[in-house]
Amino acid sequence: DDFRHEALTDVSSTNTECLERARKGALSGLWVTAVRQTGGRGRRGRAWFSEPGNLYASLLLIDAAPMDRLGSLPLAVAVAVQDAISRVMPLDAPDVLIKWPNDILIQRLKVCGILVEGEMLPDGRHALVIGIGINVAVAPEVGLYPVATLREFGVSASPDELFAHLFQSMAETLSLWNGGQGIALIMERWKQVAGGIGENITVNLPDRSISGRFAGIDDTGLLKLETDDGGTRLIAAGDVFFG
Ligand code: BTN
Repeated sequence: DDFRHEALTDVSSTNTECLERARKGALSGLWVTAVRQTGGRGRRGRAWFSEPGNLYASLLLIDAAPMDRLGSLPLAVAVAVQDAISRVMPLDAPDVLIKWPNDILIQRLKVCGILVEGEMLPDGRHALVIGIGINVAVAPEVGLYPVATLREFGVSASPDELFAHLFQSMAETLSLWNGGQGIALIMERWKQVAGGIGENITVNLPDRSISGRFAGIDDTGLLKLETDDGGTRLIAAGDVFFG
């Protein structure tokens, strides 16, 4: 892909902007960023705090991959974002970790969320939008998880400077992801920088929650949970809580 960037000021949601451009024929590789969103979206229909000072970015990918490989995409994105954030952290700062599938945490506080949305376009192409929100300088009200900003950990980079790193790391990671061998490497990297592997976690599913030992992920990115009855469950979607 050949990546381009459109920097906007106020939008409803950068994900929506990307999808609208896709419907009008935009090509794969378009990045849209905004200073502020008035209708920022989080996972599971939640709202995403979107005041100026943070990074709000979305990348459009068209006909990105066969369906059977798409499960690993959110994990690949988390690896790229973890890398971009790590590049702007001070040397003595705490580790930047991924919480399954693709939140980014520092000291167990959420600093970034990722929302991947897909849509079939009228012309038969399949559009995917990868939305990334990073708390650079402004802390949202505490919601489901405790949150923090990068500024609280000594980061002086602006949202624009952080975006330049993200642009680079996403290009590198997606080119690896596109090559067949790359997915295994990305999954290895994901495990190296994931938080909580081997620990007890609780996963909130839409209808109930289950607890167990976080045993890692399978080749497609599903969460492996060892439950008290000795079995292992594979989980495709849910909110993970440590401890
Ligand atoms: C989550 O719930 O953790 C995912 C949050 C994703 C937020 C980003 S900000 C840029 C893009 N535009 C949106 O409306 N949402 C994503």
